[in-house]
Amino acid sequence: MNDSGIPQEGHNKIPKGWMAFFVGMIAFVLWYVASFTPAISGWSFYKLYEAEMKAGEKAAASATADPGKYIGKADAIAEGKTEYETTCAACHMADASGGIGPNLKVALKYGASPDKIFESVTQGRPNGMPPFQQQLGNDKILKVVAFIESLRR
Ligand code: HEC
Repeated sequence: MNDSGIPQEGHNKIPKGWMAFFVGMIAFVLWYVASFTPAISGWSFYKLYEAEMKAGEKAAASATADPGKYIGKADAIAEGKTEYETTCAACHMADASGGIGPNLKVALKYGASPDKIFESVTQGRPNGMPPFQQQLGNDKILKVVAFIESLRR
């Protein structure tokens, strides 16, 4: 009980930290709504999607623009060799002389230029060659291509 006759609520000032938090939350909400409402800021998932698709196409194009990128580069060939041994040797043999998959050191039916080998590996081929684009990505495949190329000299 308090019988001083003075209203007590006025003595209980809101702590500064709470006030800052309260004001901060309002500011955050205003900022958030403004920046993520398409009608206000123009932000949209479609734009993000398109930007990502463009970046992806660019990456793919840069790989196919120069499929011989790593040919003759010792470091890349060494990395390609390691990748080849783990991923390809089971079917094509460690020395690429062929097993389940064909010999890769002789004439290739789908073409032996770097871009054709790149295509064989990324897309796969109908009679049992699996596509590796998803698993390895362009860059690793380009290194494997350089390794195969080094065996064919
Ligand atoms: C599951 C077994 C298997 C694996 C693993 C495999 N290949 Fe093949 N590969 C094949 C078969 C089978 C063919 C023949 C496809 C055809 O004739 O249509 C082939 C075809 C190819 C060709 C085309 C040959 C030609 O005559 O044009 C290339 C290049 C090739 N493979 C490279 C690779 C590389 C590099 C890897 C590892 C990233 C790999 N392969 C992994 C089975 C495999």
